[in-house]
Amino acid sequence: MRRLKLAVLISGRGSNMEALLNAAAADPDFPAQPVLVLSNRPEAAGLKIAEAAGVAAVSIDHKTYGKDREAFEFHVDATLRGANVEVIALAGFMRVLTPWFVKRWEGRMINIHPSLLPKHKGLDTHQRAIDAGDAEAGCSVHWVSAGVDEGEIIAQARVPILTGDTADSLAARTLPEEHRLYPEALKIACKKILEDMTDG
Ligand code: GAR
Repeated sequence: MRRLKLAVLISGRGSNMEALLNAAAADPDFPAQPVLVLSNRPEAAGLKIAEAAGVAAVSIDHKTYGKDREAFEFHVDATLRGANVEVIALAGFMRVLTPWFVKRWEGRMINIHPSLLPKHKGLDTHQRAIDAGDAEAGCSVHWVSAGVDEGEIIAQARVPILTGDTADSLAARTLPEEHRLYPEALKIACKKILEDMTDG
């Protein structure tokens, strides 16, 4: 099976990125081959994980570009294209992308978000789920579209919210579900991209 060249964009810890790399390494039929891990923060711990796994790891520090988001993204885009990337997985990448970048990678870029979208878009998702009195929380993988956390949902996983939960305890219950869900959702996304390529 053809494997799409995958870039994973991170900003920090990189545990979801690691789950994707592990899934791709464990299964010869996994439809994506990680070729690049890119962080907007040079100090991101995930970069070392990628290097240890033998995947090219680069940082492009967004701070260097000040308020010029497009100049930052132009550099990111050129780096991705230089590595012949075909699909992007955002994994804890904490920069909002401009419509220009989103349009350029439309149908080729997915994101994982720690809530049951459309609930709790944006930040502080676990605290907001608790404060709202929700009975359950979870995570969603979705196609990236112009609106933040608004693209079509590919897959979701649910966890209960328990009495006494804090944002940290809920995050800890959700994270293993993220690690399970993201590789499965990436498979679905790659299948769709490959079908679209074949259709022409
Ligand atoms: C994950 O929980 C991910 O869902 C979340 O950041 C964490 C990154 O952890 N993403 C967002 O909040 C995006 N809006 P990781 O670096 O260990 O994968």
